[in-house]
Amino acid sequence: MRVQNIKLSLMIAAILALMLFVTMRETHLPFSASAKGHSEPSAVTFNKDIAPIIFKNCASCHRPGEVAPFSLLNYRDTAKRAGQIAAVTKSRYMPPWKAEPGYGEFHDERRLTDEQIALIQRWAGSGAVEGDPKDLPPMPQFTEGWQLGTPDLVLKMPHAFTIKAEGPDIYQCFVIPLNLPEDKYISAFEFRPGNRRVVHHSLLFLDSSGAARKKDEADPEIGFRSFGGPGFLPTGTLGGWAPGAFPHYLPAGIVKIIKSGSDLVIQNHYHPSGKVETDQSTIGIYFSKTPPQKLARAIPLIRFDLDIPPGEKLYKTLVSFTTPIDLQAIGITPHMHLLGREMKITAFLPGGAVQPLIWIKDWDFNWQGQYLYARPVRLPKGTRLEMEAYYDNSPDNPRNPNTPPKRVRWGEQTTDEMALCGVQVVAENQEELPQLRLAIAQQLRPRLRANGASGTFLEDWIKQRQQ
Ligand code: HEC
Repeated sequence: MRVQNIKLSLMIAAILALMLFVTMRETHLPFSASAKGHSEPSAVTFNKDIAPIIFKNCASCHRPGEVAPFSLLNYRDTAKRAGQIAAVTKSRYMPPWKAEPGYGEFHDERRLTDEQIALIQRWAGSGAVEGDPKDLPPMPQFTEGWQLGTPDLVLKMPHAFTIKAEGPDIYQCFVIPLNLPEDKYISAFEFRPGNRRVVHHSLLFLDSSGAARKKDEADPEIGFRSFGGPGFLPTGTLGGWAPGAFPHYLPAGIVKIIKSGSDLVIQNHYHPSGKVETDQSTIGIYFSKTPPQKLARAIPLIRFDLDIPPGEKLYKTLVSFTTPIDLQAIGITPHMHLLGREMKITAFLPGGAVQPLIWIKDWDFNWQGQYLYARPVRLPKGTRLEMEAYYDNSPDNPRNPNTPPKRVRWGEQTTDEMALCGVQVVAENQEELPQLRLAIAQQLRPRLRANGASGTFLEDWIKQRQQ
């Protein structure tokens, strides 16, 4: 009797498993039914199925006055591009999000699910039907003005900068004196582009050496021109902004420091829009309201000795850094120029565990940004951080700035390259931070020297980075 019961339950379990398998197969293959039987191809409508996807994932950039070249807020504007939308979502070109899933979990991830992509395919492939107006969700609401509330300090570019209608992209640095009488701890900043049609991304540097002011004075234009880096040795960074990025407070108790006497230097990347435009961007600073407990620091993973032969299709560079103390990673900022194709950062933990930190499989200089971890990532003492980067210096790389390709080395120009990733960390025990500074300096010194950097430049660079 008992044996029979067991047999019966086994049989039921097997049937249930089979049913589950069949259902899973069906839900994973939404095409099979309609492709074979032409059953209800018009069941997918804009109002019911597509508008919720577009409003949530596209409208932040595809609305009037934003960075994208056209708006996607209603049926007409979306339907007339249905085919193109189906193509760019299928290839995952849109929404722009470069970090591979499964390699780090980040705030504000912009990825459509496979189901959403399939729905868009079906909608575009079945005549892009509008559907019942009753199904249309409410228009998306966007907070105009400061996303994090009124800042403690509002800084504006001293003058408006004019961007010509046509021509190459412009990388321009603007110096904003802060005149802070004392060091300040900050827990957030918010960058607001003055003109979202032309500001493609922005990097925010600090300079307490006066070097940026000198460059500005020497350049007759408003601000001064630069490409990859800011053209001087920054004494700190606040972070960056790219379209679609949201500001965030640092985790509780964690701060960044702005030293008294520092200037803020904004480096804006402008992309001409076809019309003459002006921009005067603004930055809001939020001071820490609670006593600071931990200072956010960046570990630079750097290879200065790049030497990429012309025609080389897959040039690889690798660098490691072993953490001398227990850390937590809160963000990560990969950086390469136009030949860069791929960058992967992995943490090898002392116990043997492997923790992927980020993988950009299809690097695009235009969509670089700062990635913030959804939760801090533990990097115990003895963790080896490894950066792996690949470059394509062949004529097949459509972004190659040199025709024919040339030998390319480290530098700040469009035609130079970089292999750099900043890993933003906090020490689990703040008192141990000097050990991290020392380890970073020890790592950088021989690399800078091998790259031919002169003694004083080198020591200045390390000192300024470490303050
Ligand atoms: C973070 C901002 C942003 C988001 C979010 C975004 N786009 Fe875009 N989109 C752009 C920008 C900028 C361009 C123009 C530059 C380019 O083509 O890269 C663009 C271009 C396009 C194009 C034209 C591509 C071409 O080949 O010319 C299509 C179609 C498009 N987006 C559809 C979408 C759809 C659909 C979504 C949502 C699923 C979306 N975008 C989300 C910024 C965005």
